[in-house]
Amino acid sequence: MGVRRGALIVLEGVDRAGKTTQCKRLVQALRDSGKEAEMMRFPDRTTMIGQLISSYLEKKSNLEDHTVHLLFSANRWEQVPLMKKKLEQGISLVVDRYAFSGVAFTSAKPGFSLEWCQNPDVGLPKPDLVMFLQVNPAEVAGRGGFGDERYETSVFQRAVQQKFEQLIKDPSVNWKVIDAARSIEDVHTEIKTLSENAINIAENQPIGELWK
Ligand code: ADP
Ligand code: TYD
Repeated sequence: MGVRRGALIVLEGVDRAGKTTQCKRLVQALRDSGKEAEMMRFPDRTTMIGQLISSYLEKKSNLEDHTVHLLFSANRWEQVPLMKKKLEQGISLVVDRYAFSGVAFTSAKPGFSLEWCQNPDVGLPKPDLVMFLQVNPAEVAGRGGFGDERYETSVFQRAVQQKFEQLIKDPSVNWKVIDAARSIEDVHTEIKTLSENAINIAENQPIGELWK
């Protein structure tokens, strides 16, 4: 019998919702319970494409809006061979942002349709589970101010939040909305349970294709 594949698990949400905190906690909890798991994040700033993106986010360079959208997508595609290899080896991947951030952030800019934004990511490995960490901006104000990177303003983050709300209505994706205003521990407990279920179901299924 072949190795049972790992699950592709994605955490999404606006800035400071707790994605990075929860990704780390989840990987640790899965490992503690004897499962193989690794964390990934997008953008992956370590690659050549990632460095172009990082410089844009740090406002050290300017890129045309369509161009940067396609770079974010290319930054996911360049990891696909590695992602598939790991999933097939039975390693579950816990991913901090994915194509949904790509679509929500670009489509929050004027003149971009959801459909245009989705197109370059059509066919990416489809997540077995996407958890949206839901918070309202007032609730996370106490988690610190915005940084200096591009997109880190409350006006833009509100527009992004609205785009996420549209994306969550898509029934072809296994969305779970998590109330992320609770304690780190309470949020973690829910995420862990949902992830363990997703891992058990994914074991016996082929890897899907996103938005196809
Ligand atoms: P994101 O990756 O979504 O931007 P982080 O995980 O970096 O968010 O968390 C942002 C800040 O909020 C960090 O200082 C973190 O310690 C804190 N934080 C995360 N989750 C919670 C929570 N449930 N309650 C209170 N503070 C939190
Ligand atoms: P990230 O490195 O996760 O930063 P942070 O930890 O501060 O949230 O994400 C960088 C920014 O890039 C963030 O504002 C979201 C945005 N983004 C896109 O615009 N498109 C994308 O495809 C992705 C993955 C992120």
